[in-house]
Amino acid sequence: MKRIYLDNASTSFPKPECVIEAVSGFMRGCGANANRGSYRAAYDADELLYDTRQRLCRLFGASGSKNVIFTKNITESLNVVIRGLLRPGDHVLVSSMEHNAVMRPLTALSQAGVTFERIPSLANGELLPQAAEGLMSRNTRAVIMTHASNVCGTVMPIKSIGKLCRERKIVFIVDSAQTAGVLPVNMEEMNIDVLCFTGHKGLLGPQGTGGFIVREEYAHQMSPLIFGGTGSVSHLEQMPDFLPDRFEAGTLNLPGIAGLNAAVKYIEQVGIQALYEKEMQLTSRFLEGIKEIDGLMSAGRRDITGRTGVVSVSLKDMDNARAAFLLEQEYGIQTRVGLHCAPNAHRVLGTYPKGTIRFSFGHMNTEQDVDAAVFALKRLCL
Ligand code: ALA
Repeated sequence: MKRIYLDNASTSFPKPECVIEAVSGFMRGCGANANRGSYRAAYDADELLYDTRQRLCRLFGASGSKNVIFTKNITESLNVVIRGLLRPGDHVLVSSMEHNAVMRPLTALSQAGVTFERIPSLANGELLPQAAEGLMSRNTRAVIMTHASNVCGTVMPIKSIGKLCRERKIVFIVDSAQTAGVLPVNMEEMNIDVLCFTGHKGLLGPQGTGGFIVREEYAHQMSPLIFGGTGSVSHLEQMPDFLPDRFEAGTLNLPGIAGLNAAVKYIEQVGIQALYEKEMQLTSRFLEGIKEIDGLMSAGRRDITGRTGVVSVSLKDMDNARAAFLLEQEYGIQTRVGLHCAPNAHRVLGTYPKGTIRFSFGHMNTEQDVDAAVFALKRLCL
């Protein structure tokens, strides 16, 4: 049976061939550590890091390649930023659609005197900027917001929220897990102070890659989470205060970053617009196809405006976990079922605690994949 992978919101698959070649090429060829050796291969590794930081800056409308910090994933990025920046007494606003990568570090910090409030959303996951404005107070230190829901794909009004934050000197932290490489993200135009990204979803790179880009003034207000060797100022037993070293202790995932470098080049060549259009074409076909299925409910927006290629559905007469199991067993269709690490998003959408079956399309999917998914859902709902 053919494998039909529809779980791109979790991680994109398959990766472009150039990404796979870059990972193995690095391991076979260069293989050296960066920022430490004084020989040719080590300089090549340094150059790879520098080039990747520069490309990410261009992609995300950021300035200063040293402000790009590599981590192993966006969860680590969010932890470094949230735990490094917030202090007792700080108030934080989040959307009602956040992933546990934001909610768990914040909840842990609430033991230490950090408070947070959720900006209410409409039942389709949409957030109105006025709702955020009304909750901003004198001690609001940061707004942390996903750019798009990982449950239903609804896109947040990042530009409007960024403007409100900048006017009030509130730090604006964006979780781009579902949008980096999918939608345009421009830190400058959107007034984003810290952009957290993952390398393995829309950016099409390997798992184990990610990072954040931080505006200089906030970098110096953040304490590091991980301490250790950086290959710089080695006579000191304190962490360096300059970027990126302040937040990059230990050996980086260089094979992964080589893959990410190739992935960003691939995105530069194909273009974000073309990638997004393909995903939306597939999403539109899917939404049309499932419209008429009796016994199937979908959560979030019903059309392709203001969304990504993530669609959550629920079967009326069958347990979702069983349906997801049958989708794979009988049709080869791979999805993600449950609460998707975002319980409150499901509360907003009215799908808590049952959860949903999530279909998420990538640009490597085909119309045949979509038609197979619609056909399978029709059969399961008979
Ligand atoms: N956050 C990822 C997802 O939504 C893993 O599946």
